[in-house]
Amino acid sequence: MARPCTARRQLCAGLLVSGLAASCGFEPEPPERAYALAPATRAALEDDAAALAGLAAGLLQAFGPPAAPRYALLEAWAAEGLDPNRPDLALGAGGSGELGASDRARIAAGNARGFARQLAALADGDFDAVRVATRRPALRAAWQALRAEHAAGRIDAATLAARGRDLFLAWYPDLADSAELYRAECLHCHGREGGGDGPSAAFLEPRPRDFRHGVFKYTSRAQPARPSRADLLRTLEEGVNGTSMPSFARLSLAERHGLADLVRLLSVRGEVERRLAANFADEGELEPDAIATETGDVLAKWLGPVAPVVAESDCPPSTPELVARGAALFRDTTKGNCASCHGEHGAGDGPAAWKIGLSGRKEPAYLDAWDRPILPRDLRLGIHRGGARNIDLYRRIWSGIPGTPMPALGTAKGPDGSPAVTSEDVWALVHFVRSLEAGAAPER
Ligand code: HEC
Ligand code: HEC
Repeated sequence: MARPCTARRQLCAGLLVSGLAASCGFEPEPPERAYALAPATRAALEDDAAALAGLAAGLLQAFGPPAAPRYALLEAWAAEGLDPNRPDLALGAGGSGELGASDRARIAAGNARGFARQLAALADGDFDAVRVATRRPALRAAWQALRAEHAAGRIDAATLAARGRDLFLAWYPDLADSAELYRAECLHCHGREGGGDGPSAAFLEPRPRDFRHGVFKYTSRAQPARPSRADLLRTLEEGVNGTSMPSFARLSLAERHGLADLVRLLSVRGEVERRLAANFADEGELEPDAIATETGDVLAKWLGPVAPVVAESDCPPSTPELVARGAALFRDTTKGNCASCHGEHGAGDGPAAWKIGLSGRKEPAYLDAWDRPILPRDLRLGIHRGGARNIDLYRRIWSGIPGTPMPALGTAKGPDGSPAVTSEDVWALVHFVRSLEAGAAPER
């Protein structure tokens, strides 16, 4: 008997597994063939069908489809031996060389936990018990290839066990594996293209990040550099406290690295799309190699050098003198100037935060980079979206919060052109902000 199951996908998926699909009538949706263009792109190209189709085809070629995202290699990258598709492999050996030996060791330790069952079965020589989930097609194929070699008598059981162990410990997801995970875990908020427009997004405040602007709030680098891998990993591990962005600490480290890779691809793709739409709006046409040029330029902002270099251990202990110095800097309009937004006592009620709107009512003075009203934080609440360590607060103050009005103090210059504040001044501000948090969030 056919049952109307489409509204009950979970149940139907269960039926598929138990072999009862025929009675369910539920057909899984085919994977999306291409990423959609943003509404803003269609507006910039004035719904010119030929131009839109050309742009969509170019982006598909450069970044692949949702089920198999992948950077097409640029000539310039090939010349350097750079392949951004595999950050875990060395430069010149099919990767981008972004992961060091210590990263790989931590990933292997995570894999040892994540694949504990497979590793135990390998150690017992019980190869039939080694199962790999279908959502990891590359790993599955590699394991099956090893088994085929064993079945053909080319390797003995001990070699199969040893090489299988290496395979699971060194596992690093490729972009297609991560796309599958993204679809399950992130898409309902961040949207298929990473436009922050998934089905849940309209119900959330703040809205999920639209990655396509290339603007990330919680970064340790000064703009225009994009966030570092460590910044994205921190966001994925801890979530964004005080928002709906959850922690993904339950995933393995390799999976979180893979998601960071996919977020980067979606962001690069989105930024390239925005630039091309702007070029088209200006010039009425697109240069043939515009996608390659813009892709190279945007990715370079991700791979560039890391700054600022300041360590958690540089944090001086909090003293009454340092807190007093922080308070003075907080209110000094030529230095921190924090009170203009956050208010004298950090309550988020500074004069710059509000304006009188056309309706005569008080409304938020600022919009964020995604055109939504934004208010300075009430610092007494002790909510640290960008992380709760002192070093996280240092970074927020040093590099500002991109996409919001909060400016970067670390790169600000005084009237004579010299840096407005020293590193110690920033630590003083960190301790002053902490002192406002009367008993909230303990120091870590
Ligand atoms: C329930 C909704 C939700 C889910 C699910 C979700 N996010 Fe988010 N995410 C958010 C929100 C909301 C923000 C914005 C927080 C802010 O503005 O402070 C965000 C922000 C981010 C940021 C930007 C951080 C920055 O520095 O600007 C990244 C990266 C991110 N999410 C990645 C992911 C990934 C990857 C997944 C899936 C593994 C995921 N998110 C799942 C809601 C979600
Ligand atoms: C032009 C307005 C403006 C100024 C000036 C400003 N801020 Fe902010 N600040 C904001 C806004 C807006 C947010 C909230 C951003 C968000 O929620 O995404 C914020 C958030 C913060 C946060 C929370 C960070 C987190 O991880 O959640 C801290 C801490 C902070 N500001 C400290 C400071 C300090 C210290 C100064 C002075 C050096 C300063 N701000 C200057 C607007 C400002």
